[in-house]
Amino acid sequence: MENKIKQYDVIIIGAGAAGLMCAIEALKRDRSVLIIDKANKAGKKILISGGGRCNFTNMNSEPEAYISGNPHFCKSALSRYTQWDFMALMQKHHLSWNEKTLGQLFCDLRAGAVLEMLLDECKQADIQVNTYIKNINHKDSYILQTDAGAYQAESLVIATGGPSIPKMGATDFGLKIATQFKLGSISFRPALVPFIFHQYDIDKYFKDLSGLSVCAQVSCNGMNFKEMMLITHQGISGPAILQISSYWHQGDNLTIDLLPDLNASEFLLSMRETRGKAALKTILSEHLPKRLAQRLANVLMHKKLADLPLGEIKQKELINFGFMLNNWVLQPSDTQGLRTAEVCTGGIDTKELSSKTMEVKSQPNLYFIGETVDVTGWLGGYNFQWAWSSGWVAGQYV
Ligand code: FDA
Repeated sequence: MENKIKQYDVIIIGAGAAGLMCAIEALKRDRSVLIIDKANKAGKKILISGGGRCNFTNMNSEPEAYISGNPHFCKSALSRYTQWDFMALMQKHHLSWNEKTLGQLFCDLRAGAVLEMLLDECKQADIQVNTYIKNINHKDSYILQTDAGAYQAESLVIATGGPSIPKMGATDFGLKIATQFKLGSISFRPALVPFIFHQYDIDKYFKDLSGLSVCAQVSCNGMNFKEMMLITHQGISGPAILQISSYWHQGDNLTIDLLPDLNASEFLLSMRETRGKAALKTILSEHLPKRLAQRLANVLMHKKLADLPLGEIKQKELINFGFMLNNWVLQPSDTQGLRTAEVCTGGIDTKELSSKTMEVKSQPNLYFIGETVDVTGWLGGYNFQWAWSSGWVAGQYV
């Protein structure tokens, strides 16, 4: 009887955040559930998330924090399964958390505790890891041929996430299924990812400054984020940079305000009046890391100003230099790409899906949830919240 097709009500491909949440809800409705994953264990991205502490949601999870071809699409799911609902689930399992900056909630224990909670909640599901899908066919139901045998189910859920961190086995499987069922999709693009620069810019601005960080407001394509920015060996990173990377396209400039709480020109002019004998670098290093202050004062104006007393620098030069500190324009050569991206923008076009159920409008009982859908959150727990919310919604209907 080896060739017998095993029957389930629901098959979920992808044992990540969204897939596990969908399974939990489907089980509550007494549906039999099989979860298939090609990785060697479930929830690998949960385990590495939030620096090992899983930033599992954000207090401010609102639709505005998501990027999508249709910014309204995520509203329904986010309002039906909220950050408070996930906190209640954590409480039920006696898991506590702490709020870090900007509403980010982190598990007090290691991220593994969140995964264990989810696995405990869906222990009645069959979870089959190390399993490769060979093909999927649909007549009245879905039949999956895998290297571990054949499976059949009335409902099929694609919860295979996005292709960031390919060495963990991440794939663009969702887009392949979209192509098979003739569904529209938007190419995945690395997001929440550091920028790299041409060697010329690295030598000029960043060389030997790797590790320095500064609070900056970074803008691109009409969006801006005021958070920390970090200088790396290859360019820039840190929360402000990861956030803006989701809005950046090849060739775009970034505008960086290095003194977001200060009109730098006015500040420098007033210091020129009161502390004219102090060197520019000394004054600047009261607001910026010393070595960065020195570097910028020597390169931004194509003239070495750092050691000059403020009183000896022309007013016009100080005004221009101050303007540049508030509006430093840089053009990254690229991002670090899928290798280090936390998520990807793009995915299944939301036009193809019902926002109420996550079901494909043109294909009965086929669902897409989580990162594989064209909904991408900001840094700070928003992406897990989308995984929980979209998974929960689909779980009510599969
Ligand atoms: P997820 O990627 O979790 O799961 C997809 C599953 O599908 C995986 O188990 C994979 O193995 C499986 N799969 C893929 N292709 C398959 C195939 N062909 N066949 C079978 N199975 C397949 N977000 C956040 O909100 N807070 C945080 O703290 C972090 N931290 C973080 C750190 C790092 C380093 C990364 C890379 C990402 C984060 N994220 C995050 C983002 C978050 O991890 C991500 O948005 C969610 O895991 C998405 O959940 P999904 O269930 O959609 O995909």
